[in-house]
Amino acid sequence: MSELSLDTIDIHTKDLYVTRGYPWQEWDLLRREAPIYWYEREGIAPFWAVTRHADVLAISKHAEVFVNSQRLRLDSVEDDERQVGSRLQRATERGWDPDEPPDFIFMDDPRHRKFRLLAAKRFTPAALRKLDGHFSDLSRKFADEFSAELTRTSDTGETCDFVRGFAQKLPLAAIGEMMGLPAGDWMRLKKLTNVMIGAPEPDFYRPGETRNQALQRASDEMTEYMVRLVDEHQERGPGAGDLSSLIVHSTIDGEPLTVQQLQGFLFVLLAAGNETTQNAISGGVHALLENPDQRELLCSDPSLVESAAEEILRWTSPVLQFARTAVEDFELSGTTIRAGEDVGMWYPSANRDEAVFDEPYRFDITRKPNDHLAFGGYGAHFCLGANLARWELRAALRALIPILPRMASAGPPGRVRNLHVAAIHALPVRAA
Ligand code: HEM
Repeated sequence: MSELSLDTIDIHTKDLYVTRGYPWQEWDLLRREAPIYWYEREGIAPFWAVTRHADVLAISKHAEVFVNSQRLRLDSVEDDERQVGSRLQRATERGWDPDEPPDFIFMDDPRHRKFRLLAAKRFTPAALRKLDGHFSDLSRKFADEFSAELTRTSDTGETCDFVRGFAQKLPLAAIGEMMGLPAGDWMRLKKLTNVMIGAPEPDFYRPGETRNQALQRASDEMTEYMVRLVDEHQERGPGAGDLSSLIVHSTIDGEPLTVQQLQGFLFVLLAAGNETTQNAISGGVHALLENPDQRELLCSDPSLVESAAEEILRWTSPVLQFARTAVEDFELSGTTIRAGEDVGMWYPSANRDEAVFDEPYRFDITRKPNDHLAFGGYGAHFCLGANLARWELRAALRALIPILPRMASAGPPGRVRNLHVAAIHALPVRAA
């Protein structure tokens, strides 16, 4: 690679994430020379690129200064406009409020907190413990299925796709069951979220359809599904016991939520619940296959599962960034962020910050402490599903330990075209 310079580095072009993966060298340069860097490039609205651990934490902890409601994620101007246009069109067609945020991540406190609390009790360690045995059984079942696929292909030398064969199954089943969604619907919903995040789903496309048209169709079908789910729960009345029912029958300040608010709420749980964890599982297995000493260590000492899961979260950092907008001037490590300016917090970069992590580019499943920011920076919006994701990742690793020694990497991961969740849509492996 030619010499990188601050003036020309590119950390925003989605196609580059597909072809080269995460821009580690660019983030290293930023952390070293301009950790709070005014990033102005064609095709994306300017923002302060924040790449150090301490600064991501500081922003996250000052939710009263850095708000979510104005610019939540960094995206291209083209995609920002498309999303706003599509939201307005949907609001007009359905008679919805055009100013209502799509979901509670786009809200600020105190309103955000009221919405978040409706679901929060289902994501506590105590609530998840009740599901523990069942989800462990599911992980073992999925691992057995993948093991059978490895056995079947070992003679022919065919490659298997670890994402479809294992990684996507547990997160989908976990959130699908928690939300009480019929198992027969899961794969269709998965396909819709895949299209929406930019994964190639060739059989979804109609002849001559562009990516944006397919994306719009997937998002319309998803809205339709969630609106129907809300209707069904409203007709059935409370008491179904699942997370969807709980939310549909909740009130805020004594008022029920609108259908528009409910469908957005249910959708964000489904999408956040199935795309991110899948990437930690597939990225984690990729890292273990690329670092055989760490794989052997884990297989010989399963008590390392918990620290391995944390290292995988740090190493893979499945969420690339969230943005915030300053509502007043703020002094951040010597740089003044002016009211009205946006900041982008690059979590993978924070997770390679040499000021916090010893040898950050060493994949070390025994790393302790491991204060990674894969779930965000401990502020008001800290990942609601962190306990669930951790639990799933540990269960997946435990179930995979018997078959990891039989797996070998068979090529680089296939990455989606997305600037928010840099997901892995395929991971070729073969029987070792
Ligand atoms: C490895 C898996 C996951 C990663 C890396 C991840 C990462 C993140 C990050 C970085 C944030 C933003 C935090 C902030 O702004 O400070 C977030 C928020 C959120 N996550 Fe996760 N997440 C994961 C799994 C899940 C799961 C399984 C769910 C389940 C539903 C979930 C639901 C949410 C929700 C609802 C929010 C918004 C919280 C709020 O605004 O109050 N996530 N996540």
